[in-house]
Amino acid sequence: TLKIVTLGGGSGYTPELIDGFIRRYAELPVSEFWLVDIAAGEEKLKIVGALAQRMVKKAGLPMTVHLTTDREAALRNADFVTTQLRVGQQEARIHDEAIPLKYGVLGQETTGAGGFMKAQRTIPVLLDLCRDMERLCPDAWLINFTNPAGIVTEAIEKYSSIKTLGICSGANSMMMDIAKVYDVGREDVYARVMGLNHLIFADQIAVKGHDVTAEFIEKLAQGNGQNQLKNIPDTGLPPAFIRALGLYPLSYLKYFYLQREMVAHSVKDSQTHGTRGEQTREIERQLFEIYKNPQLESKPKELESRGGAYYSDTACSIISAIYNNKQEIHVVNTLNRGATPDLDENSVVETNAMIDRQGAHPLAYGRLPVKIRGLIQSVKAFEELTIEAAVTGDYSTALMALSVHPLMPSVNIAEKILDEYLAVNRPFLPQY
Ligand code: G6P
Ligand code: MN
Repeated sequence: TLKIVTLGGGSGYTPELIDGFIRRYAELPVSEFWLVDIAAGEEKLKIVGALAQRMVKKAGLPMTVHLTTDREAALRNADFVTTQLRVGQQEARIHDEAIPLKYGVLGQETTGAGGFMKAQRTIPVLLDLCRDMERLCPDAWLINFTNPAGIVTEAIEKYSSIKTLGICSGANSMMMDIAKVYDVGREDVYARVMGLNHLIFADQIAVKGHDVTAEFIEKLAQGNGQNQLKNIPDTGLPPAFIRALGLYPLSYLKYFYLQREMVAHSVKDSQTHGTRGEQTREIERQLFEIYKNPQLESKPKELESRGGAYYSDTACSIISAIYNNKQEIHVVNTLNRGATPDLDENSVVETNAMIDRQGAHPLAYGRLPVKIRGLIQSVKAFEELTIEAAVTGDYSTALMALSVHPLMPSVNIAEKILDEYLAVNRPFLPQY
């Protein structure tokens, strides 16, 4: 038997995940798939869970899909636990994004202040899940998609004994973009990845084994193949800068390299279309209307308007690599352990790693190029302080976390944002 448990089972992403398991059934024969949610999410769990059951039935597979709010029952004897939960739901995200924007500071789900706040709500919940896993399924793997994925994964590594990997759709979307530009399959593309979650750079880009890095960077400079995650506005980096950088940056890097433009864009966008959280709340509402249709038996096209589209390719292929001891290379969030000497051994980084039954074995790439080193190290300092604040609930640590972030223009503003954040998030912050 192979038992998979998904926390946040009522999420709109569930059809994405189950689709991934259905497609990989031959190599990953999931016998029990448990979707777990809290009481407040039960209605959504029933709707999306029923769709998951129809999808499995349509595929004719002997997989049972359980829907439950009983986390203990679900976790007992689990082999893999995956998370896609959102503490405080879209409402909390909307505050995370709207509050910094009032002060002309980036308001984004995972980058900058928003990522700090999301971590404060999420880390205690994930560590509590780990306590349950330590009791009920101590050998299970925790595959975490809950953002900020890199930060959450580091907290789990530091404060629990559970085996874990953090996952993100970002690197895969970059590889898919390269594949599209060269009109080849995703499996024909390989690139080396350096940095942290939502802060990665690729180099040594190979298509069918041939290095195309310089050529691809030139295509990027000319405006072809710009990595476009659906959740990030299309504001191009200047060609001269792309050539100077010589690396392929994930779209999230635009928040750093085009700070002014991206904040201005977000402010304008929030006034016309609402914040991204308001937009995704509406997309979710529409998705659930679609999911309710009893004729629907597959993942609908509309899911592609979410940034995490195709995330199951990452999640399921990594689970399969562990389960089948594949010794395959994937991009994951895991402890540095020498991937680069420019970050602490015990920092979680996003890196290529060989994945087998033991988990991730990061591939060393040596020093971070000086042009990206400082940025990555500053964001890591922010991440460390963010984790410490989330665990201790210490105000000074929280203030320092926000203050050291490269996108924070003034410590006065950091203090104001923090105070507003703490006030609206009261119900989700037992540690403060
Ligand atoms: C990307 C990121 C995910 C994030 C998503 C947000 O895919 O890798 O970590 O959750 O975008 O998309 P959304 O549709 O929620 O704005
Ligand atoms: Mn991500």
